[in-house]
Amino acid sequence: MALSLLLFGPYSLLLTPYQLKGEAVARVAVNVDHVATLRQARRASEPDPVTAAALAELAGAQGIVVHLREDRRHIQDRDVEILRRTVKTKLNLEMAATEEMVKIALRLKPDVVTLVPEKRQELTTEGGLDVVFYEESLKEVIKALHEGEIAVSLFINADPNQIKSAHRLESDYVEIHTGTFAEAATFSRRQEEFERVLTAVKLARKLGLGVHAGHGVDYRNVLWLRKIAEIEEFSIGHSIIARAVLVGIERAVQEMIALVNG
Ligand code: PXP
Repeated sequence: MALSLLLFGPYSLLLTPYQLKGEAVARVAVNVDHVATLRQARRASEPDPVTAAALAELAGAQGIVVHLREDRRHIQDRDVEILRRTVKTKLNLEMAATEEMVKIALRLKPDVVTLVPEKRQELTTEGGLDVVFYEESLKEVIKALHEGEIAVSLFINADPNQIKSAHRLESDYVEIHTGTFAEAATFSRRQEEFERVLTAVKLARKLGLGVHAGHGVDYRNVLWLRKIAEIEEFSIGHSIIARAVLVGIERAVQEMIALVNG
């Protein structure tokens, strides 16, 4: 609380109308894709997302997340291979549920695979994976990953039907898509979306699923989300890396961790 007051002034108090818990203790997992995006802008060797991941961990990050996209637009196979050997916390590999990606995951054995939808034209992952629609085909993918002793998370919209389907699929975690909440333009829209996320998180926990949250989480809106005690991990990329460019990754990670646990 003290840090949020320092960073954002008394307004931060107005941003947290929900007192759902006293002390939040959620993990912050840092997505380093954007570091690779900068490197790929020049097809150079720097900045290296592997170095960024190590620095993020030294600053207290409790997980490292990378999205190996089909078009390899940022993270490269080499990055995931090295990260698998160097990440000291937990490596979470975001990927599409394709044969190619499943093969890579089974070879590299990240701690967690987060299955996401993927379209070539999108700037970033635009919506949750429709696990209701793809339930049959996802069964095989999840079974294969579990046989490889890899935990599975499904990135889904805050929708009860998606959560029930994730439960039927015996997923270990769901990652609730917080993008719509993050982009809400008005206070009342944000409250509405917050309620949707809250309901989804509660249902997921009730069904025994571990709960992660991600997409669009930043240094301001995390003041809302941290009130949801059942969120055990935040997966955060853009806001942390954007801040890191200006203040350094150590400070950017530490400030986010302080807010999440404030
Ligand atoms: N979670 C998932 C499944 C994502 O695809 C992304 C974007 O790569 C994130 C979290 C992180 O989102 P952001 O970069 O907006 O923090």
